[in-house]
Amino acid sequence: MKRTHSCGELTLKNINTEVIIQGWISKIRRLGAMTFIDLRDIHGITQLVIGENSSINVSNLKSEYVIEVVGIVLERKSKNLDIKTGEIEIDVKELIIINESELTPFEIRDNIEAQEDTRLKYRYLDLRRPEMQEKFVIRHKVYQCIRNYFSDNSFIEIETPVFGKSTPEGARDFLIPSRLNKNKFYALPQSPQLYKQLFMISGFDRYFQIVKCFRDEDLRIDRQLEFTQLDMEMSFAEPEDIMNMIENMLKTIMKSIKNIDIEDNFIRLDYNEAIDKYGIDKPDLRFGLEIKTLNKIFSNTEINLFKDLKNKSIRSICVEKSLSKKEVEYLTEVAKQNSVNILGFAKFDTNEWTGSVGSKLSEKEKKLLIEEFNIKIESTVLFIVEEYNVASKAMGAIRNACGSLLQLIKSNDFKFLWVVNFPLFEYSDDEDRYVAAHHPFTMPANECLNNFDKDLANAKAKAYDVVLNGFEIGGGSQRITDKEVQTRMFKAIGFSEEKIQENFGWFVNAYKYGAPYHSGCAIGLDRLCMLLTESSSIREVIAFPKNSSGVDPMTNAPDLVSNDQLNELNIKTNIN
Ligand code: AMO
Repeated sequence: MKRTHSCGELTLKNINTEVIIQGWISKIRRLGAMTFIDLRDIHGITQLVIGENSSINVSNLKSEYVIEVVGIVLERKSKNLDIKTGEIEIDVKELIIINESELTPFEIRDNIEAQEDTRLKYRYLDLRRPEMQEKFVIRHKVYQCIRNYFSDNSFIEIETPVFGKSTPEGARDFLIPSRLNKNKFYALPQSPQLYKQLFMISGFDRYFQIVKCFRDEDLRIDRQLEFTQLDMEMSFAEPEDIMNMIENMLKTIMKSIKNIDIEDNFIRLDYNEAIDKYGIDKPDLRFGLEIKTLNKIFSNTEINLFKDLKNKSIRSICVEKSLSKKEVEYLTEVAKQNSVNILGFAKFDTNEWTGSVGSKLSEKEKKLLIEEFNIKIESTVLFIVEEYNVASKAMGAIRNACGSLLQLIKSNDFKFLWVVNFPLFEYSDDEDRYVAAHHPFTMPANECLNNFDKDLANAKAKAYDVVLNGFEIGGGSQRITDKEVQTRMFKAIGFSEEKIQENFGWFVNAYKYGAPYHSGCAIGLDRLCMLLTESSSIREVIAFPKNSSGVDPMTNAPDLVSNDQLNELNIKTNIN
């Protein structure tokens, strides 16, 4: 029989009609001779009642059985106004078991406490839970919103290959052996970067794509090996055009998904200022706690921690709470995870200063600290003394930890910003050389066009990141379209002429044939959906993610393959 309604739509308007509904048994309650069943599907829950005079056998029904019922919609005596169908129930006339279910490894309901690996092993059951289904409905709506937005703005969606060429610079590639071309490998794309630039040379003008990307990196709460980007590129466009286009897209999503109007433009924060105030290039602006440099205040100090600074900076934040010993210990642990062993602290309790630094402050230092942080109530000032970048990074992590610890973060608060003026290069200690901070096709800023390849440490890029609540949700740049600038860029990061030809010859060649200037951006959709659904990790918004060791506990991928398969690919592993 065909269902007449879903489990989420019947209301008082349907009273006394006969309906057919189908779904999963969420709960069975037996009250005397009466049986109440909550029937669930993706749209909601409907209460079924099987009365004392019914001939239906309810003794064999269990949770998660799939059933179909025919019944009459009645008004409920005790209503549940928390759910859409809470004013009605169905008086069941007929009940058919469509499929039985074994006892599930965890309950199918919200807020379960099952281990994540168990949830992933039985992901199809995990995805049956209403809170998970809700997340994927939101994700679907975000996709529709993006497609409509770009289509309305004359962008066209074009797919790019998944099997490509391995190129250096960037994360580690995933490689795929070619059977037809023995000993050769394709690489999975880390992003469609080079292809989308070629689209601009082809004259497509405005391109976008919702696309899977693959990077062999260590996993984190906001990183997966395969993830999804909204990728876009525009011809005859400069960074400002891209930032406006992406900003309006994000505002459209916020309105349509969260019904939040963001009227102001996203603030633009200089990279150096972000590091100075927040210790990180993706600051969480839902709370203040700006970092200050206090070298001046302690220029004549007697406190050992602040003496003989040489090239070190005293970086500091002030929280409006007298932190407990346990809290200071926790924050010291955060400092240690960021290569800093000592976290100094000074507690201010109704005029008295205590703590490792607080007990040693001179009267003048106390006065200056109170002025610097505008201290009015019980507070704790935290100090790190280290080389500027190390101290900033550690204090940035402590600042974030304090945001959670002191519950400074409200729910449903979304703080977007652009970080601009990024360095063009960053120094790689592993490789002992400068590498491109974004990627080697990023246009140097106008003011360093003449000497970006001579003064690598100070060169700036026409690159921008969009940040939401402490996560980098996207980034992009203006691209190099001048052959000579591109060659200087490659040489600056140590590429010989041969290496350029071997790795990027096919790409650089395209710029000989008339390229419009162009810029673009990519947004990490898993991260965006994680934040929109206030989830604790991107795994919560990916249907079948890998766990933190890169394994799918359901299929057990990655797994061994047969010798026949390996032989065909001309591959030997060290176990065969
Ligand atoms: P970028 O490398 O900054 O830029 O990536 C863009 C966005 O993709 C998301 N992201 C990830 N999400 C989940 N797991 C990962 N491992 C992961 N890596 C990146 C982030 C990030 O901001 N081609 C350029 C874009 C451009 O210049 O147009 C690029 O890929 O949210």
